[in-house]
Amino acid sequence: MKQHKILAIETSCDETSMAIIENGHTCLALTVLTQMATHAQFGGVVPEIASRMHTENITLVLADVLAQAKIKPQEIDAIAVTSSPGLLGSLLVGVETAKTLSYIWQKPLIAVNHLMGHIYANNLDQQMVFPLLALIVSGGHTQLMIMQDDYQYEIIGQTQDDAIGEAFDKVARILDLPYPGGPNIEQLASTGQPSYKLAIANCTGPYDFSYSGLKSQVVNLVHNEKQKSLTINKADLACSFQRAAIEQVIKQVKKAIIDYQIQNMIVAGGVAANKLLRAEITALATEKQVNLLIPPLKYCTDNAAMIGAAAYPLYLKKDFADLSLNADSQGNI
Ligand code: KG4
Ligand code: ZN
Repeated sequence: MKQHKILAIETSCDETSMAIIENGHTCLALTVLTQMATHAQFGGVVPEIASRMHTENITLVLADVLAQAKIKPQEIDAIAVTSSPGLLGSLLVGVETAKTLSYIWQKPLIAVNHLMGHIYANNLDQQMVFPLLALIVSGGHTQLMIMQDDYQYEIIGQTQDDAIGEAFDKVARILDLPYPGGPNIEQLASTGQPSYKLAIANCTGPYDFSYSGLKSQVVNLVHNEKQKSLTINKADLACSFQRAAIEQVIKQVKKAIIDYQIQNMIVAGGVAANKLLRAEITALATEKQVNLLIPPLKYCTDNAAMIGAAAYPLYLKKDFADLSLNADSQGNI
């Protein structure tokens, strides 16, 4: 059987990443060059700096991934790239690189949606089984989807305001923690107790989410304590916030599992790296006898391996893009 190798490129935010993925499941090589330290100095991603750094690093990342996999360009069957959503200037560096490689190597080009990438991270070294419930928890999205098959899905719930990762990042700022907020909140929370009472929002749709109210409660608490010249216990507040944020996820997922009689479930996106979320969702899946997949940590946050995995069903269908492909900062799934 022929082994199909896809070279995948991901530059939607602040990671310059390339991977070579075989048959949608096996990662032959992965390089992730993170710009985190640079952006941390500014408290968040600076789009202009991100795209400039992608431009500087992309050829180095290409050379590295080819060397790691010990393969020549002729052995690659297709070039896949994240074309939406993300920071426009960042996406463009990946898209233009992919188009150039596709043209000079004469290989088909595949446009991949970043969120689909997060979902298909669950196909790396393991196999998604349809139909399934997909929980997406990232910096830009919080969604519940029912997937009937590859690329066939229905969104049953989503955030009405902030995404969960965005809330982690904003609360981190309020607590003076460095960027990226999520992992730093998690670390601080591990040393605290859930001593602050934070309310969980009621949403309109049965499977929807809302995080801006939770964030405002943290802002108000910090503000009020400051006015009274009291000191906030930051570890306790981080712990209370993390619990409340994850409690809403578990509540909505539990409803969806029951209502849709779910047997298979996957979790996707950067917040899937959170240990409390992983533990709580695993416990829920065990209780409800649901087969659960969560990607290993290295495939949870942005990386090109997941883009190669998401490109494979499109490759099999010959769903190729042409050289007019453009980046789309908004593009939802
Ligand atoms: O999926 P991702 O890498 O980028 C997007 O596509 O948005 O997710 C990044 C988000 C950030 O908001 C980051 O703070 C959050 O995921 N995150 C975490 C953790 N690791 C990353 N949030 C909570 N706990 C973590 N361990
Ligand atoms: Zn992402």
